Amino acid sequence: MRSIIDIQDLTIEEIQALIMTACDIIRDPNKYSSACRGKKLATLFFEPSTRTRLSFEAAMYELGGYVLSVSSGSSSSAAKGESVADTARVISCYADIIAMRHPKEGAAYVAAQNATVPIINAGDGGHSHPTQTLADLLTIHLEKGGFGDLTVGLCGDLKFGRTVHSLIKAMSRYPGVKFVLISPEELKLPSYIKKDVLKKNDVPYEQTTDLAEAIPQLDILYMTRVQKERFFNEEDYLRLKDSYILDPKKLEAAKKDLCIMHPLPRVNEISVAVDRDPRACYFKQVLYGKYIRMALILMLLEEAGACV
Ligand code: NCD
Repeated sequence: MRSIIDIQDLTIEEIQALIMTACDIIRDPNKYSSACRGKKLATLFFEPSTRTRLSFEAAMYELGGYVLSVSSGSSSSAAKGESVADTARVISCYADIIAMRHPKEGAAYVAAQNATVPIINAGDGGHSHPTQTLADLLTIHLEKGGFGDLTVGLCGDLKFGRTVHSLIKAMSRYPGVKFVLISPEELKLPSYIKKDVLKKNDVPYEQTTDLAEAIPQLDILYMTRVQKERFFNEEDYLRLKDSYILDPKKLEAAKKDLCIMHPLPRVNEISVAVDRDPRACYFKQVLYGKYIRMALILMLLEEAGACV
């Protein structure tokens, strides 16, 4: 029984196949409208979410399946003290596949050890968020035509931002990729990712605190929100939350074909005036997230022998 806990659980060939399926769904959605007829997806979300949960649910409906949903820890037996392991075992009795978000790093892994159906990690604390990365990769594929030879700027909360961690793991596997890590000192990329992913694979990277200085060389600029919920004190959050604000002025120095991305939700990191810039791709990312989740659900259910 295969679960997707980390983006590295997928080979680059499988990622390519998912992207091809997503593109085919975009071309001809009707072909897929009963691909998962009668199957059930459970969305088990113990942390706030708009896009990820609803895009999983929309994805399953568009595949002709059904959805069972827990949208907060306080409304489930987790509030009574049930363990993630038991919850996963129980939900496996009702659903064919589970998408789960949890504030604790490693929770999706524990769920996968105990479930009897595939688990998809929809975010585990400050660790990983593989399906956001799949949405990001589909966006980059459609905007840039591939993944090689790109200079990727990642800006904001690189310490707690799980979308950044997963995207670095994914993009490090393609040749010619260089990262520019833009963050305040306190929110730098964790050293385990530098060591186990970047250094281990000889991936070139620079670290800076200066967004304006970094912008001209970038092909992709991935902005992120400072992750308020992962801070231990409010004071630090307030001091760091507006470290970077992307606005039309800063973009004057950027490449004409820059791709501006953000996993959303946005707080202050991108001024709304940027939304009109043709280089803004963050709302396209939202839409692509639904198609790539359709492709992933289909792949895992086919592998599990649950869909034809
Ligand atoms: C991200 C997340 O939950 O990590 N949101 C998302 O899934 N699109 C990013 C964030 O919350 O800042």
